[in-house]
Amino acid sequence: MTEDFMENQAAPYELRSARYLAADVLRRAVRPGATVIDATMGNGHDTLFLCRLVGPTGRVYAFDVQARAVENTQKRLLEAGVMERAALYCLGHERMAERVAGPVDAAVFNLGWLPGGDHSVTTRWGTTRQAVETALALLRPLGVLVICAYPGHAEGDRERHALKDMLSALPPQSFNVLHQAFLNAGPGAPECFVIQKQRSAAP
Ligand SMILES: C[S@@+](CC[C@H](N)C(=O)[O-])C[C@H]1O[C@@H](n2cnc3c(N)ncnc32)[C@H](O)[C@@H]1O
Repeated sequence: MTEDFMENQAAPYELRSARYLAADVLRRAVRPGATVIDATMGNGHDTLFLCRLVGPTGRVYAFDVQARAVENTQKRLLEAGVMERAALYCLGHERMAERVAGPVDAAVFNLGWLPGGDHSVTTRWGTTRQAVETALALLRPLGVLVICAYPGHAEGDRERHALKDMLSALPPQSFNVLHQAFLNAGPGAPECFVIQKQRSAAP
């Protein structure tokens, strides 16, 4: 998929998809010099987008369980000349705390399977839950967690429902939680969750 809204800063504002909304939030929240996590590297579109947002003084920690995802992402970052801004790990995101000390300014999850890859290697609620809990703990005050969920397949639907329950129960003193869904897009349309740690929350 061509993610032109990520590449082209001058593209017109278009209320288009969960991915578009996620990119819009990240563009506002991630400043040059930021430290961020891409929890689902895939083909590296998000990792590259984040590398551009953090600039030469920032750092992007990216995770995926598939070696192919790491290879595809490394190639993309090398071609773009931003490889030195990133650390790529072939490691489940549920183990991100082994590689990232925090605090971080943002974390991104784009759930599901590798586009063009094996659909059986998909994110699963058991490990997604652990990783989301860890990412929330790593966020600095005013840091954001952005999650795109894909309820169009069985595991994705399970993740979406469980995420909604988990995030709805977060204490409002510590987090603001937003859930964006395209109400007329039919069943299975991707949804976006945005969580911001409160300014006064403990880092
Ligand atoms: C929809 S893709 C991500 C797309 C990617 N963000 C991009 O911009 O191209 C989801 C990815 O999550 C990965 N994944 C599945 N389980 C994982 C886990 N436990 N930890 C990290 N990544 C995982 C899959 O291998 C797949 O590459």
